[in-house]
Amino acid sequence: MSSRDALRWNARYHDPAARNADRPPALLLEEMASLPSQGLAPDVAMGLGAGARLLMARGLRVVGVDIAEVGARVARQRASGLMAVVADLERFDLPPGCLDVIVNFRYTQRSLWPRFRKWLRPGGWLLIESFNPAQRALRPNADPGYFLQPGELGTAFQDWRIVRCYDSAPARPDCAGIVAIATDS
Ligand SMILES: C[S@@+](CC[C@H](N)C(=O)[O-])C[C@H]1O[C@@H](n2cnc3c(N)ncnc32)[C@H](O)[C@@H]1O
Repeated sequence: MSSRDALRWNARYHDPAARNADRPPALLLEEMASLPSQGLAPDVAMGLGAGARLLMARGLRVVGVDIAEVGARVARQRASGLMAVVADLERFDLPPGCLDVIVNFRYTQRSLWPRFRKWLRPGGWLLIESFNPAQRALRPNADPGYFLQPGELGTAFQDWRIVRCYDSAPARPDCAGIVAIATDS
């Protein structure tokens, strides 16, 4: 599945229209001023790097991780100083407590969630936003497993300090998201 994903996303990132459509994730724009301004932050499934560039502008050292090498190359060209890692997140791990912020937009891989907990230091920030089942109207052929179900994020991170958690955002009714801070436990 992952090598098929790499092929599909590489093909997409060769397309100039896709390259020009890269926009910073709305949740990140909304939360930027609250985030730590130093430390290490991965953009998980970074794409073309618009989110990563915003985190760098905040002062963070950013590692963008994505399976699509074409996207990673474009992201590197657009942001000097960005560390772009081409890796399959299904097989990706980091040492405990090494991160200050994690962002994960429009890529749902539930097996990462326990790893997010392990990787963040206590007090570190996690931002996730991805599609909820309302996306099905726009993408009827999408795998329903990618959609975040009502209450799912709130339940998965219930023992974190929740800053915001929503099944649907007013400006983005097809998205669910969470902003949460890792606790000691
Ligand atoms: C919808 S894009 C989201 C990109 C960016 N986060 C954004 O919001 O614009 C999904 C990204 O996930 C990446 N991806 C898909 N499967 C992956 C995997 N197994 N490991 C790492 N990245 C993967 C794709 O290459 C693509 O860049």
